[in-house]
Amino acid sequence: MIYLDHNATTSVRPAVLAAMMPCMEEQMGNPASVHSFGRAARQGLDYARRQVADFFAVHESLVCFTSGATEANNLAIFGCAGMRNQPGHVITSAIEHPSVLEAFRSLEQQGHEVSFLDVDAAGRVHPETLRKILKKETFFVSIMHANNETGVIQPIAELGRICREHGALFHTDAVQSMGRIPWDHATFPVDMVSISAHKMGGPKGVGALIMERSLPLKPMLVGGGQERGRRAGTQNLPGIVGLGAVTQWIADHQMEEIKAMKRLRDHMEDELSATVPGLVIFSKNAARIPNTSLLGIEGVHGETLVMNGIARPCGHGGCGRVGNECRANQHGVEYPIVGAGTIYSTIHTHCGRVASSVALAKNIIFLNLKY
Ligand SMILES: Cc1ncc(COP(=O)(O)O)c(C=O)c1O
Repeated sequence: MIYLDHNATTSVRPAVLAAMMPCMEEQMGNPASVHSFGRAARQGLDYARRQVADFFAVHESLVCFTSGATEANNLAIFGCAGMRNQPGHVITSAIEHPSVLEAFRSLEQQGHEVSFLDVDAAGRVHPETLRKILKKETFFVSIMHANNETGVIQPIAELGRICREHGALFHTDAVQSMGRIPWDHATFPVDMVSISAHKMGGPKGVGALIMERSLPLKPMLVGGGQERGRRAGTQNLPGIVGLGAVTQWIADHQMEEIKAMKRLRDHMEDELSATVPGLVIFSKNAARIPNTSLLGIEGVHGETLVMNGIARPCGHGGCGRVGNECRANQHGVEYPIVGAGTIYSTIHTHCGRVASSVALAKNIIFLNLKY
């Protein structure tokens, strides 16, 4: 089986699993309890919080653990809107993950004015497009760091700077860039960033919203006051320990892995270009995260690819992706860059025609990129 769907999720790294095991086997306490069991659990929580805070070079109090990036994105968006007592203007891009797009649509229903920025032909939000649309009432902007389908890296340093000049809060969803490009806190003027453990070799169901400075976000979950009142509920300790461990792993090892991923992805694209007539590699010349290819075949309709690919990927040599897993029934057609005939990491779709590439993928990508 070839697994080429690491942007949907990826396996847990052994070092991360090893860090999580004692937490599940021995540390059964609630980190909010004051007795020794609770204090032991609390130590694990604090350690993980430090690992994440150090990665982003922020104070530990600015890390809010969540159930994943969907919740972190929602917390950033609704939390910021909830800091105000009147509607205003907010901006995002048309290519965000549904956890951002749907939250913005919801703000629209609540009376806020929402602008969805288009991307250029390379799948990039142009900073000047943002500058032009900002207005006095704009209080919040959210643009992802790297897109989950094209892999295109957005110019968040510039976008963040523009927001800062304007006085609007800037949030980025860094789910797909974590571990795939270095996070440069010195040059990224970002007020909030969302991350998710399971996209980078950690466990599912845990993530964080990291703030650059303390913001009085309106919580979505109220109760026991955990996470400094920003997110109530007993913390998912094994998951959080895993998130801390994977963040640490990335800080220590990401450069080697980034180089290896890029080499393999480029090799795969070269092989496929040489073998598949009419192959299109979207945003090939744009800055992209090193693990992602968005591929299309001229003249082949996306629906046909769905029928021939996604309908029977398992046991037929591969498991890639058509469209976005979060909108599996829509085949990604909402994305401006994903039109008819585009496929995403779906070299399994025509395994008869690209057998050598499938073999290549099997040998070099699956085996080597499997954590
Ligand atoms: C860019 C992006 N943001 C957010 C999410 C949601 O992350 P989670 O699964 O942790 O809720 C995903 C998952 O597909 C994603 O790709």
